Amino acid sequence: MKALILAGGRGTRLRPLTYTTAKQLIPVANKPIINFVLEQVSSAGIKDIGIIISPETGSHIKEALGDGSRWGAVISYILQENPAGLAHAVITARNFLGNSSFLMFLGDNLIQGGVGALVREFSAGRSDSIIQLKKVRDPRQFGVAVLGSRQEVLRLVEKPQEPLSDLALVGIYLFNPAIHAAIDKIKPSWRGELEITDAIQQMVDSGRRVEARLLEGWWLDTGKKDDILEANRVVLDEYAVRRVGGSVDAASEISGRVDIASGAVITNSVIRGPVVIGENAAVINSFVGPYTAIGKGTILEKVGVEHSVVLENCRLSGVERIEDSLIGGNTRVNHADAGRHACRLFVGDDTEITL
Ligand code: TTP
Repeated sequence: MKALILAGGRGTRLRPLTYTTAKQLIPVANKPIINFVLEQVSSAGIKDIGIIISPETGSHIKEALGDGSRWGAVISYILQENPAGLAHAVITARNFLGNSSFLMFLGDNLIQGGVGALVREFSAGRSDSIIQLKKVRDPRQFGVAVLGSRQEVLRLVEKPQEPLSDLALVGIYLFNPAIHAAIDKIKPSWRGELEITDAIQQMVDSGRRVEARLLEGWWLDTGKKDDILEANRVVLDEYAVRRVGGSVDAASEISGRVDIASGAVITNSVIRGPVVIGENAAVINSFVGPYTAIGKGTILEKVGVEHSVVLENCRLSGVERIEDSLIGGNTRVNHADAGRHACRLFVGDDTEITL
C-alpha cells in the first residue's frame, strides 16, 4: 500500500498567505497541517509516500518535509504542472503508484483518530475503493454521496443544490488500481478539472465495489481563514499540553494547558490556555487568551490576543484586542501615536482587514 498526499493546488482562498507559502504548510498549533497528515499516514503503517507539489510552492514543501526519514518514511515528490483536479493529480502520479493500491489524502485535511483503521479494513477487504464521509450541516459546498441500504455508494454529486444527501466526501480515499481505468474515461467538469468524484462515479457505474465509511469524529478542511482558526481550536483542544520550556517571570500568570517553547520569554503577562507559544517568542505586558498559537520569534507587547494564529517573527504592539485573526509571518501591527485616530496601512494584495 502506498500513499498519495496532495499538496499542489492554487490556494486562492488563503491569499495573501499563499503568495509566499503553500497552504499545507500553514501551521495549526504551531505545526504545519501537512505534518499532521504525514504522522497519520505513517502511523497507519504506510512508508512509501508520494507528495503532489505545484511549481509555485513545491520547493517550500520539499524543504519543510525533506526525505521523509523524520516519519520513518520515504517521500517521492511529484510535480503537477497545473492544478487540473484531484483525478489529474492521480494521473500525474501514475509512475509512482504503479500497480499498487493507495491511500489518497488531501494535504490540507485532517480527521480525528487518523486513518489506521480505514487502511486495515481496505487491505483486508475486497472493495475497489473506500471513501470517507462526514455528515455536514450545509452539503451545498461539498461533494456528497448517496448511499444504498448496505452503505454502498450509489451516486456522487458535486455541490448539490437539492438536499440529496448530507454526507460530504472527506479528503481521504482508498483505491485499488481500478481507479486508473475509471479516470481514463472521465472528461473535465464545468470548472475544467478532472474530478475524483466523477472517477469514483465511473467505478460505481461500471459495477466496481465502492464502499463508504462514516466518520464520527471531527474533520478539518483548512481551505479558508476561518477553517484554519477552527483547526487551530480543535487541535489545541485535543493535543495541547502544559509544558513550560521558556522563562516566565513572577508577575505573569499562566493557567490551563499552555505550551511555552524553549527560549520564549513571558514578562508581566496573563496567558490562558489552550495556547502554544513558539521558540524565542516574547510576550510582554500582554494577554494571550484561549485557542491562540504564537509563532517562533514573534513579539507581543501591550497586546490582547485570543482565538488567533500569529505566524513567525511578527511584532504586535499596543493593540488592546485582536481576535479571530490569522496573521502572516514578519507582519508588524502597531498602535498609532496618542491623539491620532487615522489608520495607516501598508498591506499586501488580497489582504482582509476588519476594523
Ligand atoms: P482545493 O482546496 O480544492 O483547491 P486549491 O488548493 O486550488 O485551493 P483554492 O480553491 O483556494 O484555490 O484542493 C484540495 C487539496 O488538493 C489541496 O491540498 C490542494 C490539492 N490539489 C492538488 O494537489 N492538485 C490539484 O489539481 C488540486 C485541484 C488540488
